[in-house]
Amino acid sequence: MFNTMTLTKAAGAFIGALLFLMLANWAASALFHVGHGGGHGDDEIAQAYTIPVPETAASDAGAGEEVVDFEALMASADLAQGEREWAKCRSCHQLNGNDGVGPHLNGVVDRDKASIAGFNYSSAAQDMPGVWTPENLFEFIENPRGYMPGTAMSFAGIRDNQARASLIAFLEANP
Ligand code: HEC
Repeated sequence: MFNTMTLTKAAGAFIGALLFLMLANWAASALFHVGHGGGHGDDEIAQAYTIPVPETAASDAGAGEEVVDFEALMASADLAQGEREWAKCRSCHQLNGNDGVGPHLNGVVDRDKASIAGFNYSSAAQDMPGVWTPENLFEFIENPRGYMPGTAMSFAGIRDNQARASLIAFLEANP
């Protein structure tokens, strides 16, 4: 026999099922929306492409426009740390005026680029005019191939700002 209780339970179950289906449908469309726009036209495709772009731009800008207080880094340069960093250069460079795989680096600060007579510089190095300043050494040592595309110096670079500043102070101390 149908009583009110049975009807209420049936209606409750029906509404519950309906609610579940609505939620499932909403969840599915939300998921697919991000995935591939569901083929609903340009709007959603455009969204799928625009979402990652600001993120990439933001992280690029973050890396590229990093604010470096070079003066402060040089002021807190530590010669002992610089000497430890120099160990990464020693297999190719010397500080006694002799050239090896790379040109000697005693006196490199304020020296003309690619100016050691008799050293066989790459054309990338020869085509780069100017003087090695502490500032451009700071950039070069961070990423040699980025600063001087085509350089013969196969060295990945030192990312740590303070370590590079200390290394430059160490080079300055070896005229
Ligand atoms: C695997 C060998 C190698 C290592 C390691 C290396 N270099 Fe070099 N470096 C070279 C070569 C080769 C050149 C010449 C580049 C060219 O001709 O393109 C060079 C050039 C340079 C120059 C330009 C010199 C000039 O006379 O214009 C500087 C400055 C320099 N290196 C600094 C460093 C420092 C600092 C380190 C350590 C952090 C280092 N290099 C590690 C091989 C190396």
